[in-house]
Amino acid sequence: MPNYPSAVVQSGGTKTGPMYPTLEDAYGRRFQYLRLSVTEACNFRCNYCLPNGYQSSHKPLPLNQVEIETLLQAFAALGTQKVRLTGGEPGIRRDLDKLISMCKSTSGIQKVALTTNGYNLKHKIPIWKQAGLDAINVSVDSLDPVQFAQITGHDILPKVLSGIDRAIELGYSNIKINAVLLQQFNLNQLERFIDWVKHMPVTVRFIELMETGDNRVFFRENRITGESIKSHLLEQGWTEKLKDRLGGPAKEFSHPDYAGNIGLIMPYSKDFCNSCNRLRVSSEGKLHLCLFGDSQVDLRPYLLQGDVVGTIRAIRQSLPDKKSGHFLNDGFTGSTRHLASIGG
Ligand code: 5AD
Ligand code: SF4
Repeated sequence: MPNYPSAVVQSGGTKTGPMYPTLEDAYGRRFQYLRLSVTEACNFRCNYCLPNGYQSSHKPLPLNQVEIETLLQAFAALGTQKVRLTGGEPGIRRDLDKLISMCKSTSGIQKVALTTNGYNLKHKIPIWKQAGLDAINVSVDSLDPVQFAQITGHDILPKVLSGIDRAIELGYSNIKINAVLLQQFNLNQLERFIDWVKHMPVTVRFIELMETGDNRVFFRENRITGESIKSHLLEQGWTEKLKDRLGGPAKEFSHPDYAGNIGLIMPYSKDFCNSCNRLRVSSEGKLHLCLFGDSQVDLRPYLLQGDVVGTIRAIRQSLPDKKSGHFLNDGFTGSTRHLASIGG
C-alpha cells in the first residue's frame, strides 16, 4: 500500500483538483498525459521495430501493481488526466485488466487508453471494457493479409480486424488504427486504407517512420513523408479538423462522404514538439522526458518504497531538463534503440 501524502488522503485525492500545479516545462508546455509502458516484451516482429523479435540483454522486471499504483498516485497529484498503457505489447500482461481498473479508479484520471497490436483484442476487449478502458489504438500496417504477415511476422490480420469489429460492437467509438507507411512494403495500401474508412467509423493514422538506433538503413530505404500524404488528402477533398485539448500530436482530416477519419503523425515536422503534452514511463519505472531523449530518471527506488511524495519530487525536479524538441532531423535518436522499449 503506497504511503500517500496526507493532503491526498485528506482532500479525497484529486477530486478537488490536483494538489500540485499541473506539470509544466520551461517552454510553457503542460503535461496532463502519461504513457506508461507495462512491458517491453512484444510477440510481433514488425520489420521497422523488432525485425528479429523481442530480445532482452537482462531479465526485465516490469513494475508490479503496487509500484504502478504509487506511480499513478504521483502523476494524478501532478495533474495527469489521461493514461495510455503501452508496451511492447501490453496485452501480454495477464493483469492488464487490473492495471486498467487501477488507472480508472485513481482520482483525477479521467481517461484510460490502450495501444495494442490487437493479437488478443477480440478475446480480451470485453474484459478490458469492464475494467474501465475508455479508448483503444490498434496497429494495423496493412489490410492485405500476406503483406500484414510480411511486416509483422504474424499471419493474423483477420483476427485483428475481428477484434476491432468486436470493440465497435461493444460501443467503442473513434478507435484509432496506427499504420506506418513504408516505401518498400505497404505504400500501395494508402488508397485501400482510405477506401476502408468510407464505411468504417475509425481513424486511420499514418505514422511517419522514425529513425531509431536499430533501424538506420531501413529508415533511409523506407521513409515516406506525411506531407506527401497530406497533399494527396487535400486534393481528394479531405479537410483538417481542429484539435481537442487532450488529443495527441496527429493532424486529423475528415471528409463528408466518409464514416471514418484519416490522421497524420509527422514527428519530423517543424512544430511537432511544440504541442508535446505527454511524459513517458518505461516498464521498469524510468521517466523519459522525450521519446528520443537521453535523459531518463529512475523512479523505481521511490516506487519500490511506495513513496508517492518522493516520486512526485523526482518528477518535478526532472522537468526543467526537458528539451524543446527531439532533434531527430539532425539524425539524433538518443538512446532509443527501438520504440518497443518505450511504447511509441
Ligand atoms: N517509427 C514509427 N512508428 C513506430 N512504431 C513503432 N516503431 C516505430 C517507428 N520506428 C509505432 C507502432 C505502433 C506505435 C505504438 O508506434 O506501429 O503503432
Ligand atoms: Fe510491432 Fe509494436 Fe511489437 Fe514493435 S512493439 S514489434 S511496432 S507490435
